[in-house]
Amino acid sequence: HLKALIGPSILNSDLSKLYEESQKLLDNGADYLHLDVMDGHFVPNLTFGHPIVKCLRSKIKNAFFETHMMVSNPEQWISPMADAGVNQYTFHIEPVNDVEDVCRKIKENGMKVGVAIKPGTPVSEVEKYISLSDMVLIMTVEPGFGGQKFMENQMEKVKYLREHYPLLDIEVDGGVGPATIGCCADAGANMIVSGTAVIGSQDQAATIKLLRDTVIE
Ligand code: DX5
Ligand code: ZN
Repeated sequence: HLKALIGPSILNSDLSKLYEESQKLLDNGADYLHLDVMDGHFVPNLTFGHPIVKCLRSKIKNAFFETHMMVSNPEQWISPMADAGVNQYTFHIEPVNDVEDVCRKIKENGMKVGVAIKPGTPVSEVEKYISLSDMVLIMTVEPGFGGQKFMENQMEKVKYLREHYPLLDIEVDGGVGPATIGCCADAGANMIVSGTAVIGSQDQAATIKLLRDTVIE
């Protein structure tokens, strides 16, 4: 059956303490880590790449790492990210010509496949690739920055997918926190990315638990 999984995004944490911040999230009940990789081209911002993910993996052996690849050429980083110890490679289909080929290569490299769409991309575009993927990510902000406002109109996509694919892992990302988790849960999302709402909360464990309990209800 579908599990409610909470994957905090460390994007807006103190990145000079990437390991400590990540370990703290896991100790506070995070089910996985959502690592936001940006190339300054697909999105107007830069973060980090496989060398840093590899260092983080060397200190955190067991956690599930998802990389959210906000990059123009996702094919390029499949093998380096697999080598860095990534468990799931989630990429945007918008800049990719041969999405099926990218899905295949991710699997060949031993990682799970996530396919992501921006708010302006119709759900029909990603639906074609569901049979080749382990998860669909519906963005609830324009990718590029943490701390933006949740776009409730994206819930139509989540509802559509949940209706037609009862067992599909559906992730939401952007502006998700205690104030917006109800919408996400009602629509049928079961993998929840939350950045500033978790990082900035006084009680991370309570916030993570609240997010999970809302999805399970
Ligand atoms: C946006 C990133 C998200 C985001 C999450 O480009 O993909 O993971 O930063 O942060 P919040 O929850 O603050 O929107
Ligand atoms: Zn993300």
